[in-house]
Amino acid sequence: SQRTLVLLKPDAVARGLIGEIVGRVERKAGWRIVAMELRTLDRATLETHYAEHVGRPFYEPLLDFMASGPSVALVVEGERVIEGLRALAGPTDPIAAAPGSIRGDFGTIVRENLIHASDSEESADRELKIFFPGLV
Ligand code: GTP
Ligand code: MG
Repeated sequence: SQRTLVLLKPDAVARGLIGEIVGRVERKAGWRIVAMELRTLDRATLETHYAEHVGRPFYEPLLDFMASGPSVALVVEGERVIEGLRALAGPTDPIAAAPGSIRGDFGTIVRENLIHASDSEESADRELKIFFPGLV
């Protein structure tokens, strides 16, 4: 099976949606939460995590937003969980995201799109080391 890195972004935490979103992940058959922590992400962590977006117009506002309050970082393990979490989240733009997806149900603003989930096995390996370096 696979592991993926999930972040409930500061908007999700501030709006009281931790339980709602974690509940959706928990209810998927055979998936397990293997690590979970509430933390305010620091600039260095965010620069590493979002290195692929350096120089994009949305990069600085994205980092400011992601550091604006606590997030919840989770590691989820299970069958095809990388693809599965991306499907649960929905596309980046919440207005384009279908109802039933997390972004489609709760979001309107592209930057404040509630959740991050690793987009490939390579991203998951890289991101898991950033957020949970001690996890075995
Ligand atoms: P993440 O799971 O957060 O990585 O989202 P993603 O993989 O769906 O999107 P991507 O990695 O392309 O972009 C990272 C984050 O930057 C998105 O989740 C948005 O919050 C933000 N973002 C991406 N594209 C835009 C954009 O065109 N405008 C704005 N304002 N924000 C963007
Ligand atoms: Mg991404």
